[in-house]
Amino acid sequence: MEKIKSVRGMNDLLPARSDVWYRVERTIREVVNSYGYREIRTPLLERTELFKRSIGEQTDIVEKEMYTFDDISGDSLTLRPEATAACVRAGIEHGFLHNQQQRLWYLGPMFRRERPQKGRYRQFQQFGIEALGWSGPDIDAEIMMVGTRLWRRLGLSQLTLEINTLGDPESRGSYREALRAYLGRHREDLDPDSQRRLDRNPLRILDSKVPQTQQILEEAPGLLSFIDGKSKDDFSLLQVILSENGIKFKVNSKLVRGLDYYTGPVFEWTTDLLGTQSAVCAGGRYDGLVSQLGGQPMPAAGFACGVERLVEVYETSADPVGNEQPDVWVCVIGDHAMGYALKNAEKLRDAGIDTIINCGGGAVKRQLRRADQSGAQLVVVIGADESMNGYATVKSLREDGGQTQVNESDLANYVCTRLRKEQK
Ligand code: HAM
Repeated sequence: MEKIKSVRGMNDLLPARSDVWYRVERTIREVVNSYGYREIRTPLLERTELFKRSIGEQTDIVEKEMYTFDDISGDSLTLRPEATAACVRAGIEHGFLHNQQQRLWYLGPMFRRERPQKGRYRQFQQFGIEALGWSGPDIDAEIMMVGTRLWRRLGLSQLTLEINTLGDPESRGSYREALRAYLGRHREDLDPDSQRRLDRNPLRILDSKVPQTQQILEEAPGLLSFIDGKSKDDFSLLQVILSENGIKFKVNSKLVRGLDYYTGPVFEWTTDLLGTQSAVCAGGRYDGLVSQLGGQPMPAAGFACGVERLVEVYETSADPVGNEQPDVWVCVIGDHAMGYALKNAEKLRDAGIDTIINCGGGAVKRQLRRADQSGAQLVVVIGADESMNGYATVKSLREDGGQTQVNESDLANYVCTRLRKEQK
């Protein structure tokens, strides 16, 4: 029979790597909680209109990357390509934005029909934070501090922060026209992608990696000279705050984002470790989005981080982390010992000891080999004699020394002491 394969660009997370993911996700949770961000979970499917209105009809995401279909009732639905719009939609729908401020975070799968390559997938995980209701450079800086703390906690030092400001909608509009006029004079020499963008979204040409287009861009008008006074002042203050907090950054006046909702400061953390897919985390301010989606006008800012990319950087970083290892492996000899062994494994877990029990029997030698491979510190052997007489045999898998017979009632205590763990 022909085998069925997964959909191109959509990956399985196999058990061998799930521990690393778990560690990264746990660290994300700890870091965002320490800043007072609270989790929100929104559906994977949203009305297509939500993304058209927020991300923008003329962006790559909406034009060519969304998984969109009509459901049986004729509604056009889309698998979410990002979660910022959904957070705002949920906030308006449930009334938790009105006259309030919210720090939100999320983690989950997003879908974009891009050309798959290393670091770029059609289903990928994003972790993101959204701060709704604050307008100052203080919250912009806080958002960047959340990222910085997370990289530090994960031991990552290879991420570079680039920042820019897009100014208010008017200054961005004037700049768009100036750029269009300049690039229009070089239309014939631009790459085909940039030619296509010229009429619809010229700012995106600034992102082009094509050498000839980059050369043309060198003489292009700079965004910063079009920025309004207030945005400039806020951007200067943001830089002062980041410096005061020891956060290194580069101002990149060519940094624009691929989604239309941004206003004011934008930023990206990039790395050299992932080839062309260098952006690990990106975001910025989007003060117009809440009202664009039908809410009362409200300032907002946030970021999203590609977890596959983050994990990849984490795995290639200086301090790679091994698998999660159990503390104890329980070997079970004979069917009659099963119930007693399972009961004692539960008691060890009750005491906070990570325990794997050997299910399915097998020769003692094989069980001990598995115990060794698991990385456990101790093996607890339970056979007929142990189960009949209410004790267990404990032996270290890592240090020399004999085995000890321990009474059932003392087992958790004894194992905790051996593991130098506090009994929970
Ligand atoms: P974005 O730049 O489109 O922004 O995506 C953020 C991050 O998601 C990227 O930097 C990258 O790490 C990851 N990512 C995007 N596409 C893919 C893909 N095809 N495969 C793997 N990883 C990918 C947003 O999505 C905004 N919602 C960010 C934001 C939140 N702005 C304000 N709040």
